Amino acid sequence: MLWSSELILTLLPFAAFNVASPTPRSRDKFDWSSKKALIAFGDSYTYVQGTHGHQNYSFIADQLNFSYDAETLLSNKIVQNQTATAEGGPNWVEYLTKCGLKPGLTSPKTCSKQLWDFAFAGADISTEYTPLHHNYTVSLVNQISQFKSYGAPVLQTFLKPSKSLIAVWIGINDVGDSSKYAVNFPTFYNNLTSTLFSSVDKLYDLGYRSYLFMNLPPLDRTPGNQATTTPHPNATQVAWYNDALASKAEQFGKEKGDVEVRVFDAHSRLSAMLDDPAKYGIVNTTNFCAGYDQPDIDTNYKAYGCPTPLDTYFWFNSGHMTSHVHSILAAELEDWLKE
Ligand SMILES: *[C@@H]1O[C@H](CO)[C@@H](O)[C@H](O)[C@H]1NC(C)=O
Ligand SMILES: *[C@@H]1O[C@H](CO)[C@@H](O)[C@H](O)[C@H]1NC(C)=O
Ligand SMILES: *[C@@H]1O[C@H](CO)[C@@H](O)[C@H](O)[C@H]1NC(C)=O
Ligand SMILES: *[C@@H]1O[C@H](CO)[C@@H](O)[C@H](O)[C@H]1NC(C)=O
Ligand SMILES: *[C@@H]1O[C@H](CO)[C@@H](O)[C@H](O)[C@H]1NC(C)=O
Ligand SMILES: *[C@@H]1O[C@H](CO)[C@@H](O)[C@H](O)[C@H]1NC(C)=O
Ligand SMILES: *[C@@H]1O[C@H](CO)[C@@H](O)[C@H](O)[C@H]1NC(C)=O
Repeated sequence: MLWSSELILTLLPFAAFNVASPTPRSRDKFDWSSKKALIAFGDSYTYVQGTHGHQNYSFIADQLNFSYDAETLLSNKIVQNQTATAEGGPNWVEYLTKCGLKPGLTSPKTCSKQLWDFAFAGADISTEYTPLHHNYTVSLVNQISQFKSYGAPVLQTFLKPSKSLIAVWIGINDVGDSSKYAVNFPTFYNNLTSTLFSSVDKLYDLGYRSYLFMNLPPLDRTPGNQATTTPHPNATQVAWYNDALASKAEQFGKEKGDVEVRVFDAHSRLSAMLDDPAKYGIVNTTNFCAGYDQPDIDTNYKAYGCPTPLDTYFWFNSGHMTSHVHSILAAELEDWLKE
């Protein structure tokens, strides 16, 4: 069983860590309560719309308009409405921080846990492995370079790295885009995640020491993949990627020694929801509602052939989970961060 338990890869430079003990890691706290900000990188699962962002893709800037100044960053606001995320409502980083949850505009600086979100919808890790979805797409490695050049120098004037948690959820597009490649997949995913962590090294050099990685959802169970006997990606590919991520995260923690690194097993949490949906108020795990992006979908779902409201669906569309699923996932993540 690859994912029978949560992965807790916490490495702290405490002498006690080296003392033989039956469960040394379980006592290490991931101190989310003391953090003042979440700094996020990733793809559409994580992106939030900004007033200075690329419409439907980012909080700020894009690949063709790469730089931004302090004034643009600090005056930028998180938009919350039906089209401001890829799930029709708030996503996991907004539920976790409670920043940008309310409809309308929120300045991250006004939140008690600030959300600075540099994720770009449609991002993969690097063009070294997969092509950009659009010429304006900011890959994960470029999100981090961009943050190093333009974001960190501004944020660090009022947000200490020690008060910031870095969150990364990436790999979803990579594994989908490359699912039919003729490669040795475990090696390929090893290469992908090596590149990911070379980029994370830049964040380490900027002083960040707390890292949260989310592993891949059960992408072999999207509506399209459930409907075929040859899913792309399949469960084995998803598990291989997640194995590569877990081992690279552990290696990163060991090599640095002074970082706290945790991988949240989103895969097992989301699989549990698909396996026992009733427990989570979900009735539909097999399809998505065709009218998911219609302005009146909340009240008029039946007009689009959907027997139950959007919030009772697991899948929002062909590749994204509903905001309801994000809220459950974020609540479970928040509890886990306190463990
Ligand atoms: C470039 O991005 C900034 C925000 O980062 C935005 O204010 C400006 O309008 C953008 N310019 C173009 C040409 O898209
Ligand atoms: C959401 O907000 C954006 C940016 O303010 C706006 O362009 C868009 O029309 C809004 N969408 C809805 C459904 O209100
Ligand atoms: C953003 O996405 C919405 C649907 O979610 C669409 O109606 C709108 O045209 C898109 N805006 C742009 C600028 O692509
Ligand atoms: C980006 O792609 C669009 C659409 O294909 C094209 O019109 C535009 O010229 C491209 N821009 C650059 C800078 O390559
Ligand atoms: C992985 O990286 C190694 C070293 O760069 C390279 O030789 C190999 O071809 C790559 N394999 C895959 C499947 O990407
Ligand atoms: C999934 O795909 C990989 C790569 O094509 C293949 O090696 C593996 O056997 C497949 N697993 C299943 C369960 O079909
Ligand atoms: C699931 O959603 C699809 C598409 O909206 C619908 O046709 C189907 O009846 C739904 N199934 C259940 C069990 O509600």
